[in-house]
Order: sequence, then C-alpha cells, then structure tokens
Amino acid sequence: MSNPDVIPTVDLSPFFTTGDDEGKKNAKDLIHQACSTYGFFRVVSHGVPLELMTRAMKVSKTFFEFPDEEKLKSSPVSGSPLPAGYNKQPAHLADKNEYLMMFPPKSTFNALPTNPSEFKEVDEDLFSSFVNTAQLLETIVAECLGLPPTFLQKFNDDRNWDLMVALHYFQATDIENIGNSEHEDENIITILLQDEVGGLEVRKDDEWIPVTPIEGTLIVNRGDIVQVLSNDKYKSATHRVVRTKGRDRYSYAFFYNLEAEKWVEPLPEFSTSIGESPKYKRFVYKDYQALRMRNKTHPPSRSEDVINITHYSVPN
Ligand code: OGA
Ligand code: NI
Repeated sequence: MSNPDVIPTVDLSPFFTTGDDEGKKNAKDLIHQACSTYGFFRVVSHGVPLELMTRAMKVSKTFFEFPDEEKLKSSPVSGSPLPAGYNKQPAHLADKNEYLMMFPPKSTFNALPTNPSEFKEVDEDLFSSFVNTAQLLETIVAECLGLPPTFLQKFNDDRNWDLMVALHYFQATDIENIGNSEHEDENIITILLQDEVGGLEVRKDDEWIPVTPIEGTLIVNRGDIVQVLSNDKYKSATHRVVRTKGRDRYSYAFFYNLEAEKWVEPLPEFSTSIGESPKYKRFVYKDYQALRMRNKTHPPSRSEDVINITHYSVPN
C-alpha cells in the first residue's frame, strides 16, 4: 500500500541545539526538495508546544460554537487595513467557512473575543510561538535558495503585518463541499495547524494530494513572495480545503507576511545575474494584497478572472 502521508516530514530539532550539523543538512535537503516539488512540508520538533496547540484548538471551537450574536461582538474595527476580527464568508461565496483574523498581539486593530475568557491569551501566545518558528524557517529557506541565511529576515523585517486566522469550516452537504477554493498563499511562509478531520489538499502534477492530519505536527508552505523573489525556483503550491460530511473542521493559519509598502521583484541572483529574464514585473505588496482580498469580497464569475500572482507575469 502506498503511504498516504507523502508530504515530506522535516525534524527541526537540530536547529534548537548546537553541533548537529548532519541533522541540519538533512533537514535543509528535505526542505529544498519539498520546496522544489510539492511546495508543502510537515515539521516536527518545531518549537510550538503541543499543549498550546491543543488549548488553541479548544478555545477556537468554543468560540465558533457560540451564536452569531456573541461572535459578532468581535467584528472588525473600522480603519483596519484587513478585517481583523470575526468574519463569515458571504453566502454568495462557494467557500463555506467563518474565521477570526488577528494581527500581532499588540496591534490596535485586533478585535479578539473576550469569551471564552482565555481566548486572547492563548491566541496571542500561539501567534508569538508561530513567529519564532517562522523566523527559523525563513533562515532555512533562504539558505536552501543559496542566499545568505539572514537575507529574507532583512527583506522581511517588519513584524507588524503578520496575520493569524482561526478558521471554522462547516460540514459538507449532499451537494457542495468547498471549504477554501484552490489558491496559492500570497505571503512569504504559511504555518498551518489543523485538527484531526482532514480535507486540506495540495496539487502536484495535476493530482490532489491529501495533507493528512498528524497530531503535534505543523504544515508549512511558501507563498507567492518567495516565488517572485526566486523567479520561480520555488513555486508556491496550489492547495484547497474540501469539507467533510458530518464533521466540522477547525484550523489555524499563520501568515508570515511582508510590510504593505514593500516592493517585490525577482532578485538579480535568480534573474539578471544568471542571464535569465525576470518572470515578474515589480509591484508594491499592498496592491497585490488588495487584489487578492477583492477575489474574496467580489468573486469574479469566471474562474480565469480570479487574480493570482500571474497578474504580474512578464510575457515571454
Ligand atoms: C488558507 C488555507 C488551509 C486550512 O487559509 O490560506 O489554505 O486548512 N487554509 O485552513
Ligand atoms: Ni492557503
């Protein structure tokens, strides 16, 4: 029987000790391979405590089980660059989920629930823990690309733009099961914590591969920024969530993200310096983010009109 868990598993423990150069090399080899093929990998010994992940899942379930009236008390505050707080996907959208979005713990845009009372503390702790893991992953990915380890850290040096989203996917019905339509993430690196239900899938060679849940592990995928910087060396993986009949699904997605005003374009290391033409025009990140948000709020009727990173492709 083939192994259903085909997403490579990477042990990050060598990066939390000194001296295990062999372990580090193995991890980097696996990540490079994963980034060049699936765009997805699983991490263990990632530094986020299991007990914190369990508590975070629990407070999220408790919150989403409340009636709308209670959840709407955490509606986004006006003036927020993105709708931080509680949101339900509008009924006309195929994606059937509701979510609670947050900026970093100190952000004045956050509209975090006060009920359950431990929600704020648990989610703020989870957010901070994800930042640490993302920071480590960012240095590893830079090295895997052949860049100095601190390259992405310097490029992505403003931590005010990271986002975490607690998601609740409703049960599938007899006629529809879309939870999160196929897409690529627009940021730098995404870390995902999912419950035991399953439904996340990644596309590889025109096949949808299930990203099966394994307790204590986290799923990592890279976003469009890395694809553009690396001039397609590391492509961002297409993924989706399919809902299950009879089961609600909960997840947390952490988007390690770039400052809004930042310009993004292929690095010379992957284009002009090696005699290859840049595959993307340069753009300001916030413009792309706005277009992507519009996909959600004003979904185009034709799927080919949904904006993704090819919007900035240079015709060859
Ligand atoms: C996303 C996403 C997957 C999940 O929010 O971009 O792909 O399992 N989420 O919730
Ligand atoms: Ni995604």
